[in-house]
Amino acid sequence: MNIVLMGLPGAGKGTQAEKIVEKYGIPHISTGDMFRAAMKEETELGLKAKSFIDKGELVPDEVTIGIVQERLSKEDAHKGFLLDGFPRTVAQADALENILDNLGKKIDYVINIQVDKGVLMERLTGRRICKNCGATYHLVFNPPSEDGVCDRCGGELYQRADDNEETVQNRLEVNIKQTQPLLDFYQDKGYLVNIDGQRDIKEVFSEIDKLIGSSR
Ligand code: AP5
Ligand code: ZN
Repeated sequence: MNIVLMGLPGAGKGTQAEKIVEKYGIPHISTGDMFRAAMKEETELGLKAKSFIDKGELVPDEVTIGIVQERLSKEDAHKGFLLDGFPRTVAQADALENILDNLGKKIDYVINIQVDKGVLMERLTGRRICKNCGATYHLVFNPPSEDGVCDRCGGELYQRADDNEETVQNRLEVNIKQTQPLLDFYQDKGYLVNIDGQRDIKEVFSEIDKLIGSSR
């Protein structure tokens, strides 16, 4: 099962990805997570990515395409993958087609989680993440049982540096501009499935699960 998960910042890609990989056992390939890991380790890639991510801009295509190509050629991606946050430009989508052609694979679904942009600011500024296991919470919509503590592992919760109001505003503008051509690209190829992301987290998952489960 080869899946691409799309949606504006805060649409719920990471939240749904956690559930999908848990149930279907395919690797979760999130370009955002890969960049954040590199930033934490202060590698060359991390330093380069940081200058864009801190401003809410996209990391240049050649950098992003390179890391995805490398990741998709790893052994564990042979049995399937869940791409989260990639592609984000038509150039990245073209590159992905080439990468997959060379690996003899194809995309099964592009799942687009649709949410009105009006609710995204609140979702992002209220998001908290576990330092230890990466689980995602929301102060209002999905709070942990105990303030600041992860339900799953007891780890400390933190706020992402790019989840402040100013950076979120720019992330939304940048992503809105890039998204429509990408949706048209996948609509034309017949891969696109739109999912209403404005319902409860469990209901959104149940619809995605039905879709994936029905084609196995
Ligand atoms: P990335 O990490 O991918 O960030 P993003 O696209 O901005 O998406 P988010 O992770 O912020 O949102 P999400 O959709 O995963 O939402 P979540 O599930 O957490 O990328 C970060 C940066 O890296 C980019 O800005 C860019 O600079 C760079 N980058 C990454 N990929 C790139 C690429 N391909 N090309 C170039 N640059 C790239 O949910 C959000 C909150 O809402 C949470 O608190 C959650 O609990 C809550 N929530 C989720 N679902 C619901 C629901 N149904 N109801 C109520 N609340 C909900
Ligand atoms: Zn945790």
